[in-house]
Amino acid sequence: MNSWFYWERSIRRLMRIRDLRIVAKLAEMHVDLQPGTPLAGLTSLGIGGKTDLLRIKKHESLPDLLNLLDENRVPYKFLGGGSNLLVGDGELPWVVLQLVRPEPDVVLDGNLAHVDAAADLGRMITLCAKNDLGGMEGLIGVPGTVGGALRMNAGAYGMQIGSYVREVRLYRAASRKLEILRDDQISFEYRHTSFAPDDMMLAVILELPSKPFKEILQGIRICNEKRRSSQPLGQKSAGCIFKNPPGASAGRMIDELGLKGLSVGDARVSDRHANFFVNAGRASAKDMLALIADVRERVGKTYGVSLENEVVVWNA
Ligand code: EPU
Repeated sequence: MNSWFYWERSIRRLMRIRDLRIVAKLAEMHVDLQPGTPLAGLTSLGIGGKTDLLRIKKHESLPDLLNLLDENRVPYKFLGGGSNLLVGDGELPWVVLQLVRPEPDVVLDGNLAHVDAAADLGRMITLCAKNDLGGMEGLIGVPGTVGGALRMNAGAYGMQIGSYVREVRLYRAASRKLEILRDDQISFEYRHTSFAPDDMMLAVILELPSKPFKEILQGIRICNEKRRSSQPLGQKSAGCIFKNPPGASAGRMIDELGLKGLSVGDARVSDRHANFFVNAGRASAKDMLALIADVRERVGKTYGVSLENEVVVWNA
């Protein structure tokens, strides 16, 4: 056997947790290890290879857990709801950490909503609405967790989640501490925040305006209708693939170039909204990335704009 074989084996060893001492420690930390999980099943695009999934039942175990992974040179990534994510194919070179949703995941106190990062965004908006708390109507129909929405400052129909944030509880990999940040310590911009890529959102306090349920429901219905008529909701996608460049619409530019229906394998530009790329069958990450590159190049040639990804790419 040559040295390449040993090199390859040692890299592969990092991808999966087999050491029984680590497995035992994970159990002590209330971390549920699910070996060899296909991430395609955890992403809205239905694309992604296999790795070990570590489901964290207690936020408090994070510092110890990350120390354990670092000591054993196990690379990791944090997964939210998987709805804005394109994961690479095959055997992945890192494990994935995900918070287990606690019960209850939303606690209301006057105009404040204390929400766990693992809470489903739509369910949280509906629950607040039923308690006469509004403001988030535009985000109804956006799939994913509250933590994911927070990290990228999800927005739609003129609103963004960042406007309602009062406080965020997070684990900061840089300081290796659980920290609380007030809204004035975070900047929320268009689909961008000042959180570091390795910050893990744990919980948020939102301050929401009082509104009668009926009025919120009316707003929700209007947004739902707009979304249904313009976006391919029944298909596997990651929402918009590109950010809108300042003053322009990526979807309109791609549409104007006649690229709806353009495909690489089963990765396809949606016929309904040109900034949604759908997995029309068994698309691979390679197909989707090739389609993204092709569309970016064509838009660049015609409009002189380099479209920036909105979708987060975890390419192996
Ligand atoms: N348009 C076309 N062809 C298309 C798509 C859009 O001509 O295929 C035109 C529309 O007719 C409209 C304009 O482009 O005049 C803008 O389209 P739309 O209202 O659908 O909004 P968008 O800019 O494409 C943004 C967000 C969406 C969000 C909607 C509604 C981004 C990248 N996208 O889309 O967010 O749902 O506004 O507020 O900011 C997402 O973040 O994943 C996402 C889908």
